[in-house]
Amino acid sequence: MTGAMTGAMAGEASRVRRTTGAGSLARATTDEASPAWATTDEASPARATSDEASPARATERSFSHLLVCGGAGFIGSAFVRRLLARGDGTRITVLDKLTYAGNLANLDPVRADPYQAARFRFVRGDIADRATVWPLLAEADAVVNFAAESHVDRSILDSEAFLATGVLGVHVLLEGCRRELERRGRSIRYLQVSTDEVYGSVDAPVSEDAPLRPRSPYAAAKAAGDLLVASYAVTFGLDALVTRGANTYGPYQHPEKLIPLFVTNAIDGLPLPLYGDGLQRRDWLYVDDHAAAIEHVLRYGAPGAVYNVPGAGERANREIVARLLELLGAPWDLVRQVPDRPGHDRRYALDGRKLAALGWRPQVHLDEGLARTVAWYRGHEAWWRPLKSGEWEEYWRRQYAARLAAGRPFRAGDDAEDPLNGGPAGIAEERPAGRGGGLAEAAPNGVGGEPAEPTDGERSGFHGPAGDGPAGDCPAGDVPAGDGPGAA
Ligand code: NAD
Ligand code: DAU
Repeated sequence: MTGAMTGAMAGEASRVRRTTGAGSLARATTDEASPAWATTDEASPARATSDEASPARATERSFSHLLVCGGAGFIGSAFVRRLLARGDGTRITVLDKLTYAGNLANLDPVRADPYQAARFRFVRGDIADRATVWPLLAEADAVVNFAAESHVDRSILDSEAFLATGVLGVHVLLEGCRRELERRGRSIRYLQVSTDEVYGSVDAPVSEDAPLRPRSPYAAAKAAGDLLVASYAVTFGLDALVTRGANTYGPYQHPEKLIPLFVTNAIDGLPLPLYGDGLQRRDWLYVDDHAAAIEHVLRYGAPGAVYNVPGAGERANREIVARLLELLGAPWDLVRQVPDRPGHDRRYALDGRKLAALGWRPQVHLDEGLARTVAWYRGHEAWWRPLKSGEWEEYWRRQYAARLAAGRPFRAGDDAEDPLNGGPAGIAEERPAGRGGGLAEAAPNGVGGEPAEPTDGERSGFHGPAGDGPAGDCPAGDVPAGDGPGAA
């Protein structure tokens, strides 16, 4: 099925070469695009000696027409808004299936601006549908693929769509790029937006050459996509790259994810379902930073390379909840500790030195980003309320009804026998990867798994694995341990 096209695309927009920094303005040539899948050297900025190590010496690629797949989602739409708002003549075609997570309203700022709207086209369609995809590729000089099913919990409920998009869809895109390479005699640039989840649960920040140990169907589909991209770079010489981003948050994120779910539920006085002991750690990346990193890699990245995109603040989930409640002026008694996500990854942490060597660092501090995010959700009820009706009600029932019934008010403690607070039944697979626990499985709903020895981190309350968090990032005292209603 060929997707319906809406919106306007200006005639031949004048190509405007960016002149930022000292980067060369030369477009990529076939030679520059020769394949070199990430090697150990590329992964180690300390030893990198080629252009890729420095944006000042790296070739800057410019693009006149981008195909952005999944551009109506959370991060993809931030990327599109960012590029079009710059007003440098770049044209963008967004291809998006508009699943429950895709939302044209995310692109309203683009469609409301005549200059941007004239350089924007929206095509509704599936990346797995070659009849839709291949003609669009023929017009583009680069592709950025955000399209994916992106929610871990939904992949546990039903994984089929994750594989259809994350594996077969990516394959259709890559095959189309290969055809374009044959037709043009040079490769269009392909950037696959991937995730830190492909590394699995980690003890310490990992670099790009770390083994892939995905542990959810979502993460497995993303890892499969990464490997397909690698194979097309090596085998066919495609100018393809991968970014692996950290947990992203900010405006326009679907309210199924932790931060927008807790903010919007708190606004409505609804329960905040915290999985297990809430000591899982994530490195939080503001969405505009993530979009900027993807653009940076698109412009400066080495063909065939993988780049981690770390966040600006690693925190335990409890700490995030504490900050959100503080910003919202909401009480701890909204928080319910509920049975854990099966296979819940304890920690994600990325070594970002390779991308830093390429000249990118996150700009938005977590405190600032959270404040902006809470303010945005407070001011945009008309955006998120429709997303919490219809399909949402069935999802909420399947994902949370039994959990909430089995849950209890939040209690900040370290009782190793407590199934909701780090004890054996609630957290059946505590052993982080690298300590023999790579593929350990929890029983469904985290109940009834093999008893696990609590780690030092669990015993000590709010600390993550000892000594491996960013210095000064997560003081134990950040979380008001005594604030929980059950803590007194
Ligand atoms: P999202 O769920 O908000 O958006 C996904 C978009 O893809 C939606 O617009 C959806 O309609 C579209 N889509 C889904 N299947 C499609 C298909 N078959 N064909 C065309 N379009 C399709 O996701 P997001 O949070 O914006 O994530 C975007 C990408 O970034 C994903 O690939 C995800 O794996 C990756 N990522 C996300 C995060 C995060 O924290 N959100 C972090 C790192 C990486
Ligand atoms: O790390 C990158 C990944 O971040 C992306 O690849 C995914 O697309 C994105 O969804 C996100 O995955 P997470 O599973 O980490 O995000 P989520 O918001 O679902 O959960 C964040 C943490 O909060 C996680 O430890 C689970 C916990 N959580 C989540 C929800 C939805 C809860 O405790 N309760 C909840 O209701």
